[in-house]
Amino acid sequence: MNTIEKFNKHVMQSYGRYPLVVQNGEGQHCTDENGRTYIDFGSGIGTNSLGYCDEKWADAVCAQVRKVQHTSNYYYTAVQAEFAEKLCNISGYDSVFFCNSGAEANECAIKIARKYSFDKYGKNRHNIITLVNSFHGRTIATLSATGQDVFHNYFFPFLEGFVNVTANDIDDLKSKLDDTVCAVMLEYVQGEGGVNVLNQEFVDTVYQLCAEKDVLVIADEIQTGAGRTGKFLAGEHFGKKADITTMAKGIAGGIPMGACLTNEKCSGVLTAGTHGSTFGGNPIACAGGLAVAERLESDGFLESVAEKAEILRKRLSECSEVKSISGLGLMIGIELKTKNAGDVVKKALDRGLLLLTAKTKVRLLPPLTISSGEIGDGLEILIDILEE
Ligand SMILES: Cc1ncc(COP(=O)(O)O)c(C=O)c1O
Repeated sequence: MNTIEKFNKHVMQSYGRYPLVVQNGEGQHCTDENGRTYIDFGSGIGTNSLGYCDEKWADAVCAQVRKVQHTSNYYYTAVQAEFAEKLCNISGYDSVFFCNSGAEANECAIKIARKYSFDKYGKNRHNIITLVNSFHGRTIATLSATGQDVFHNYFFPFLEGFVNVTANDIDDLKSKLDDTVCAVMLEYVQGEGGVNVLNQEFVDTVYQLCAEKDVLVIADEIQTGAGRTGKFLAGEHFGKKADITTMAKGIAGGIPMGACLTNEKCSGVLTAGTHGSTFGGNPIACAGGLAVAERLESDGFLESVAEKAEILRKRLSECSEVKSISGLGLMIGIELKTKNAGDVVKKALDRGLLLLTAKTKVRLLPPLTISSGEIGDGLEILIDILEE
């Protein structure tokens, strides 16, 4: 039995997978079992922010494995303290709860929002506004929060307490932001929903109305955070800092890690016994996260992300098959004129280029460390496929 046959015999079939067995990787390339290399324009799925097996990152992770791999959250570790301090310093947040994934980070944000409101105003102020076309995760609560009917199937009953507002529709927001609402949760750029950027006026209105009513803003920056858009957090593009920001994906360079960051107002909401996670803040993950954070704050790094994004966008906009380009920084959605995004991804795989889709668009989330030469190599394949 080959790897794919063995895999399919024993691993649940909950993903539509492509026929690629990733054996190892270096930089922006991975290699399959037959020694064929692929340039990865998806960085895993926005996770391998420094590419495959970045040397400094790997050294930090391996050194931590040899020191202590895990301990109970009833004790302290220096590496968790250091990573928390670093995240708070870079982002301007006050404190952080560590978990292992995006969905868990959002679960934490939902709990904080509801408890903040319960502690201050009592019951019946538990509703959370989320946006149509949003994606917040695969647990029951985060599926309930997700504003897409396609995800509200099979697993009934979903949780009550989530109200959907159409993105960028200020009237819809105003009509639903009543005194049952404790938080508004948004992605500045809806990733899975099609790489759609919210408009400034809508974001301004959310923040203004929430401030007036002491309703919390939760920014789901699981896909947009950790430098993906050329800023540490995408909220910086809008001049905004949410009460709660959730991060995951690229935060630890490909090791499972989620973080829920809170401002001073929300920092004391979770008290001993109200929330927890066995592996949350795992020392290995924190060591990976620290290595990523140090790179992101190094001189000129985020500026280089923004510059590379410009190169990519400009080249793509010159392609005759490209109808429009959306997103921010190195989070790129490509709307096509005639071709099907799924077919393009399959053809690209055959040609040694890994891409992603988001709804009907081709989605690019290349490693933040990609060079302009590597961008050129990948684009040559992509544009060739688009224009053939
Ligand atoms: C915006 C957003 N929120 C939440 C999630 C869920 O993250 P995870 O798959 O790590 O649970 C994702 C994953 O794609 C995401 O893009």
